[in-house]
Amino acid sequence: MVSSSAATPIAADSEQPVLRDFGGGAFGIYVHVPFCATRCGYCDFNTYTAGELGTSASPASWLAAVRGELAAAAARFDLLPTPTPEVATVFVGGGTPSLLGGDGLAEVLEAIRAEFTLASDAEITTESNPESTDPAFFARLRAAGYTRISLGMQSAASHVLKTLDRTHTPGRAVAAARESRAAGFDHVNLDIIYGTPGESDADLDASLDAVLAAGVDHVSAYSLIVEDGTALARRVRRGELPAPDEDVLAARYERIDVRLRAAGLTWYEVSNWAAGDSARCSHNLGYWDGGDWLGAGPGAHSHVGGVRWWNVKHPARYAHRVAEGGLPAAGWESLTPEERYTERVMLALRLRTGLPLADLAPDAAPAVTRAERDGLVRRTGTHLILTDAGRLLADGVVRDLLA
Ligand SMILES: C[S@@+](CC[C@H](N)C(=O)[O-])C[C@H]1O[C@@H](n2cnc3c(N)ncnc32)[C@H](O)[C@@H]1O
Ligand code: SF4
Repeated sequence: MVSSSAATPIAADSEQPVLRDFGGGAFGIYVHVPFCATRCGYCDFNTYTAGELGTSASPASWLAAVRGELAAAAARFDLLPTPTPEVATVFVGGGTPSLLGGDGLAEVLEAIRAEFTLASDAEITTESNPESTDPAFFARLRAAGYTRISLGMQSAASHVLKTLDRTHTPGRAVAAARESRAAGFDHVNLDIIYGTPGESDADLDASLDAVLAAGVDHVSAYSLIVEDGTALARRVRRGELPAPDEDVLAARYERIDVRLRAAGLTWYEVSNWAAGDSARCSHNLGYWDGGDWLGAGPGAHSHVGGVRWWNVKHPARYAHRVAEGGLPAAGWESLTPEERYTERVMLALRLRTGLPLADLAPDAAPAVTRAERDGLVRRTGTHLILTDAGRLLADGVVRDLLA
């Protein structure tokens, strides 16, 4: 265990990440809220129910630790050659940030403002579970300075929500989206999950009807992933539920894209659609463009100038590490040129803007030719871009380019 003052330069053999400088791209802050009222059967995020935590951690002890981590990180960044950039984006995610309530989330933002300078036009998002929101909650967030709300809707079909162990009613997410818009949020996202066992085309259509009726300017649509170690994985293994079918998933994706496109929401990343450039999630674009970000909170990941670190996962251990001083990192790595290239190809190709041809290694040329021949990518003068068919097979195209 290494403990060191945040303002002390760290030796190269330390567990603490050795930072060289900022990378020069956008700078964002992610804060991880590790609490959920109940655990959804499909989810393997680093999150805990009150029963799982007992007295080992609480929202109050978590917030105190986050304050400590932000202070330690700000002090560490002050040692770098380049002044710490203004924070262009903040994303409070989870877990279920809305469990902190409007006042708790306002305190999170104050904690960031105490240590960092937010850009005057910063995008400030919080995720929320529809069941822990109401009009007063959204009004409080808006007054505190949040600019964007992301709501986990998943489906409008009650039997699908039941399979996913979601506890809100089908209508609650749409009502929450409307309440957030009424509170003055121009930027609202709904997350949906498609391909849940038992979901029909008609169920998906009902979800899309609900999304479009909510009038949001952003939609994230994720195919259901059966994550190891989850209750869903156990049910699939026992034969109680079928695994999601790849052909069904592809057909559902196309259905989503057609409906959203017709309503003026265009894809800008394989799983994300927005009503114009200003509706895109700048924070996530920072990740996908290889920007710098500090991830605060249990299990959060950070990336600064090609150095990546990840925090200890359990909230009690996280708070303990913060109290010891320094960053609560469980590990860190300095990306090699090969790793940076792999990340660049994986992330940029999933974007509508595509991968700059100049960034592609010469030995990828045969794979590009194959993907073009198969109608999976097209070349503009400067970029390689997935076609509609290519978006369905994005992972395979990336694998081939990197083989
Ligand atoms: C942190 S949650 C969103 C906020 C809040 N906790 C909620 O669930 O309403 C992030 C999103 O990840 C997606 N997600 C989580 N696990 C998934 C899985 N196994 N397969 C597909 N999507 C998943 C869900 O759409 C979820 O809304
Ligand atoms: S999907 Fe959201 S509410 Fe459900 S367990 Fe995961 S983080 Fe918690």
